[in-house]
Amino acid sequence: MTDLSARLADAIAPVITFDSPIEIVEGDGTWVTDANGNRYIDFACGIAVTNLGHRPPSVAAAAEDQLNRLWHAGGSFLYESVANAAEKIIEVAPDTVEQLFFMNSGAEAVEASVKLARKTSGRQGIVVFRGGFHGRTMGSVSYTTSRAKYRSGYFPLVPSVFVTPFPHPYRWNMSQEDANEYALNELRLMFKHEVSPDEVSAFLFEPLQGEGGYYPAGYEFMKAIRDLADEHGILMIADEVQTGFGRTGDFFTSQVYGIDPDILVMGKAIANGLPLSAVGASKELFAGWPPGSHGTTFGGNPVSCAASAAVVDELRTVIPGIAERSDLAFTRLGDLQERHRTIGDVRGLGLMIGVELVKDGREPDPDAFAVIAREANRRGLFILNCGPDNNVIRFIPPLNVSLDDLEAGIGILDEAIAAYEA
Ligand SMILES: Cc1ncc(COP(=O)(O)O)c(C=O)c1O
Repeated sequence: MTDLSARLADAIAPVITFDSPIEIVEGDGTWVTDANGNRYIDFACGIAVTNLGHRPPSVAAAAEDQLNRLWHAGGSFLYESVANAAEKIIEVAPDTVEQLFFMNSGAEAVEASVKLARKTSGRQGIVVFRGGFHGRTMGSVSYTTSRAKYRSGYFPLVPSVFVTPFPHPYRWNMSQEDANEYALNELRLMFKHEVSPDEVSAFLFEPLQGEGGYYPAGYEFMKAIRDLADEHGILMIADEVQTGFGRTGDFFTSQVYGIDPDILVMGKAIANGLPLSAVGASKELFAGWPPGSHGTTFGGNPVSCAASAAVVDELRTVIPGIAERSDLAFTRLGDLQERHRTIGDVRGLGLMIGVELVKDGREPDPDAFAVIAREANRRGLFILNCGPDNNVIRFIPPLNVSLDDLEAGIGILDEAIAAYEA
């Protein structure tokens, strides 16, 4: 054990784990450097947070400038950076988003979105989709069904939450069309047997399930949910904490599909690593949330907001380049799939790609990722996993990764998988 891992084991609660024993002392763009000066390609991006790579210069400059002027306001007085961030995000968000409420973390934003939906609709029911991840607080973990272990030991959870299937075509061994039909039929049965739609306040969903295994909802399924929401006066809450800020090829995945949610939940890459999250909705909806019915001390931190405004500006130039990177990644990962029996499926959108690791044909291989991640580390690459069986590689490079670094990272992955299969 290195000195640092011993200190962490002593001082940090073991509920927080570190995927790799490597100590990183500096990040720069796509690359990070360890305490011995070794460099690594970072395709973990701090769990889809550093979408512009580490310390992007324009974001760093905006944050530093704000840090030298005002750090905290806590709602005591007016400050400009929160208006700048809100205006810029509203400009690039789906049309329904006319105002924002800022917080600090994704879970907090999910909590706020459900409170807003319940308060304004006067209904209690929340319909969530199996495999969804929405956070760890008591409310958000009640909506989270990506893994039973996240909920275990915390019952009773928040009541009036109803769970319905999300299409998982590869795992169900079905076409996307059949999986959609199965999932929608289950939802219709839920409305018949478990909860009447006129008691449902909101559908809470990820347009591309993240932690649950990188499953895109697809346009048809999203449209069917939008239609059901409209038919029954149910609000549609898109949790875009992981899928937002360019990750799937546009600012938000709702825009990739062309389907506007009523409430948009944002976090992670919103300030490229400084803590910030937000809920967006129409002015009409927010008007039903009177002053004082919700609040925050740190939300809308001046430094995080300054960074966030710079993130939006930077993304405007980065987003047009994502398609080329995405095509290259899908092509190269498709080649890997042909050559490696361990890769069962490659799926996703933009630069949010899941590589599912299997054995005996289509069975999840729960052992593969740990070995592949270690082999990748040894060769200079950080990667993360997801899925209830720990068997899906989250392929999430920075959105501005150079084509050479993208090729190099995939090359290392190729070697790491070969080492596992040897
Ligand atoms: C879709 C989604 N929602 C919510 C969260 C919770 O965000 P946080 O960890 O910032 O509370 C996450 C985190 O992974 C997420 O992926």
